[in-house]
Amino acid sequence: MKLSKAGLAATIGLICLGITACGGSGDASNGGGATTIWKLAFNQTEDHPQFKAAEQLGELLDDATDGRYTIKPYANEQLGSQTQAITNVSDGTIEMIWASSGTLENFNQDFIVFNLPYVFDSVEAQEAVLAQPDKLQELYTSLEDSKNMTVLTGVHAGVRNIYNSVRPIREPADLNGLKIRVQQSESQVKMIELMGAVASPLDTGEIYSALQTGVLDGSENNETVFASLKHAEVAKYYSYTRHLLIPDYLIVSTSALDAMSDEDRQALLNLVPQAQQTANDLFAEFVTTSIADAEGSAVEFNDDVDVDAFKENVKPLIDESVAANDLRQELYAMVENANEAAAA
Ligand code: GCU
Repeated sequence: MKLSKAGLAATIGLICLGITACGGSGDASNGGGATTIWKLAFNQTEDHPQFKAAEQLGELLDDATDGRYTIKPYANEQLGSQTQAITNVSDGTIEMIWASSGTLENFNQDFIVFNLPYVFDSVEAQEAVLAQPDKLQELYTSLEDSKNMTVLTGVHAGVRNIYNSVRPIREPADLNGLKIRVQQSESQVKMIELMGAVASPLDTGEIYSALQTGVLDGSENNETVFASLKHAEVAKYYSYTRHLLIPDYLIVSTSALDAMSDEDRQALLNLVPQAQQTANDLFAEFVTTSIADAEGSAVEFNDDVDVDAFKENVKPLIDESVAANDLRQELYAMVENANEAAAA
C-alpha cells in the first residue's frame, strides 16, 4: 500500500494539545491481545527532546490503538550508530529512527536542499517549511520503494557551529589545517572544505575519543551535542559560525506501517504532528541548559565570527546543489519564502 501516509497526517492536523490533554496512560488493554512494540533507534541521550517526543508518541499510540501498538525508544546508539541503524530500518529489523537529513542524502541526493549551509535564516523559517508536509510528500515518500522507509515528519535539530581544541574560529583562515568531524554525507564534506578545514566524516559515538586523542581537532554541531555527549570536555573553543540548521526526520519502516490495520495506521498518523511539536517545543530549553553545562567545563564561546565570509565561501555548493533538478528548486523556493515570511 502506498501513501500519502504522511500527507494524510498533514491534512488531519493536531489532535492533541499536550500529553495531559490527550490523557495517554500507556496502560491500555486490547482485550488480551499482544502489544506490538516498535523499536526506535536514537543516537543521543534520554534528555533529548526527540527521545521525549518518541516516548510520548509510544504512550499515545498505545492508548489510541487500545494497546495494540507502542514504541520503545533506545538512546545512546544502543541499537547502533545512526548510519547502521538506518539500514536496519530499511531491512525492517528496527521499525523507527530519528535520523538526520544528512544521513538520508546517502539514499536520495534530493534530501540535500535542507542540509546546505546558510539556507535557513532562522529556526522559525525552518519550522515553517517542516510544517508543510503536504508539500514535502515527494521527498518524504521517495525512499518507500527503494529503501522501505517513510519519512513521517521533520523537526528542528539545532543550529550547528564549529568547536575545536586549538583556537577560536572567527574567519575561514582560522580553520586552515584543522581536521573537523562532519556527518557521513557528501554535502557536509564539501561544506567544511569550502569553509576552510579538512573534513573527517565519522559516526557520533566515535567523536569523543577522536577529539581526546587528537585524531580530530574539532567537530561541528549544536550546543546540545557539544554538552550532552561531553565534547565540551575535550574541545574548549565553541565558535558561533551558525552555518547549518539540518532537520532530523522521524522515519518508519514502510513495511511496518503497511502491516498495520487502516485504523491503527491512521491513529499513528494522527499523532505525528504532536510528536513534531513536542520535539520542536522542547529544543530551545535544551540548548539553554546545554550551554550552562558546557560553561561548567570552562569552554570559551565566541560570537565575533565573520559569517559573511563563510557564506561567500559555501555559495558555489548551494548554487550547484539546488540547480540539479526541479524538485530541489521547489524545495529551495519553499525555504526562501519561509525566510522572507519569518523576516517580515
Ligand atoms: C545532531 C542530529 C543527529 C545527528 C548528529 C550528528 O545531533 O540531531 O541526528 O546524527 O547531529 O552530527 O551526527
